[in-house]
Amino acid sequence: MDKFLVPAVPKPLDGEVEIAGAKNAVLAIMPAALLADGISEISNVPHLKDMKTMSDVLRIIGCRIDGENHKLRIDTRGANHLEAPYELVKTMRASFYVLGPLVARFGRCRVSLPGGCAWGPRPIDLHLKGLEALGAKINITHGYVEATCEGRLKGGTFHFPISSVGATVNLLLAATLAEGESILQNAAIEPEIDNLVDYLISMGAKIQGRGTRTLIIQGVESLTPGKGETIADRIEAGTFLCGAVITRGRVKVTHMVPEHIMSVLNVFKEIGCDVTIGDSWVEVDARNKSLKPISVTTLPYPGFPTDLQAPLMATLASIEGNSLIQDTIYHDRFTHIAELKRLGADIQLNGNTATIIGGKSLEGADVMASDLRASAALVLSGLIAEGETTISRIYHLDRGYEDFEAKMAKLGATVSRIRPELA
Ligand code: UD1
Repeated sequence: MDKFLVPAVPKPLDGEVEIAGAKNAVLAIMPAALLADGISEISNVPHLKDMKTMSDVLRIIGCRIDGENHKLRIDTRGANHLEAPYELVKTMRASFYVLGPLVARFGRCRVSLPGGCAWGPRPIDLHLKGLEALGAKINITHGYVEATCEGRLKGGTFHFPISSVGATVNLLLAATLAEGESILQNAAIEPEIDNLVDYLISMGAKIQGRGTRTLIIQGVESLTPGKGETIADRIEAGTFLCGAVITRGRVKVTHMVPEHIMSVLNVFKEIGCDVTIGDSWVEVDARNKSLKPISVTTLPYPGFPTDLQAPLMATLASIEGNSLIQDTIYHDRFTHIAELKRLGADIQLNGNTATIIGGKSLEGADVMASDLRASAALVLSGLIAEGETTISRIYHLDRGYEDFEAKMAKLGATVSRIRPELA
């Protein structure tokens, strides 16, 4: 397994990086192709492990997938094996997104239950209750969800008791082909959902309420292959901007949508950084600033994203004083704390709230990444730790950051990948 070797940066990060397409948007859009017979196209697709995993899921179903230059073509004409196996779903929960489109178009499918995750239980009850509200019969057997329906799904109303990105994706996909009108109340409003709505509309779906918590879908009998562009990855952008703050440097992220990270930019401003916002770029300047601790709570969009909780924690650990982070989305998403402590950070966890006693000097150590965003947090801390930090299990990081080492190099940091055969 590859590792990262991170020496402390001799000088603060300084430079500009281009942000890739949003992994989580592509993961929602790829299964949308299953709703039509033919070749769908998606552009601005990042080269990431998760895209390969979703391609493998679609290939097992019978699709042909090819791509180049960040474009993906999904040919669904051979889709006839209506199953997503445990081996793939367990490695990536978003594989579960094929459930909605498969039952909507083919009237039956069998998809493995995703299983647990490093941050505690991650239920899929809302995906299943929502599909039942659209007339699907759900049967769980031998670790698999079997979904069936007589004829087409039937339009229905489903109220999400809590905001769920994944369940909104699954239901939206399913409702496009249901008979009659479906209303999704308290739907997620993350930018990736808007991106999916736009893509579905390109396929002929009838959806009203884009960007709001009430989505009204008039089901159609069939859809045509889709074409559309992926939005920029707001979490990747936020991670590199954390890099500016933790090293007291200056980073400009480009090819992105500033509006998508307003909650994050407000945090950087509150800490005391200069934030400059352009039409498709943002610059955060933390040079020669006296930064101060803060309290942050993760919330559904437009609140501060849970996916930036770990990188922000690493960042706040560099600021003198006590900061607080409460994660209201995933109460157990704190496996990075133990590893940040190995580098010398002082962090106490009480329930879902971490108190970060910032300003302690860090020392390089061998640490282990426990998930995608935890990996990024460890790299960021490694940049300011004295001596070398070695991070193992960076396959987690490869799931979500394209050309990570190259982008870090553009900002002036040397993050080296050590391959086992070279180690
Ligand atoms: C998506 C993102 C993930 C992000 C998360 C929250 C993708 C591929 N992943 O994950 O990066 O951290 O949104 O922004 O886009 N819940 C239930 N029952 C369900 C579904 C969810 O109780 O059936 C709960 C979850 O446990 C969590 C909350 O709802 O507490 C939000 O989860 P959800 O938005 O569904 O997260 P994912 O879609 O899995």
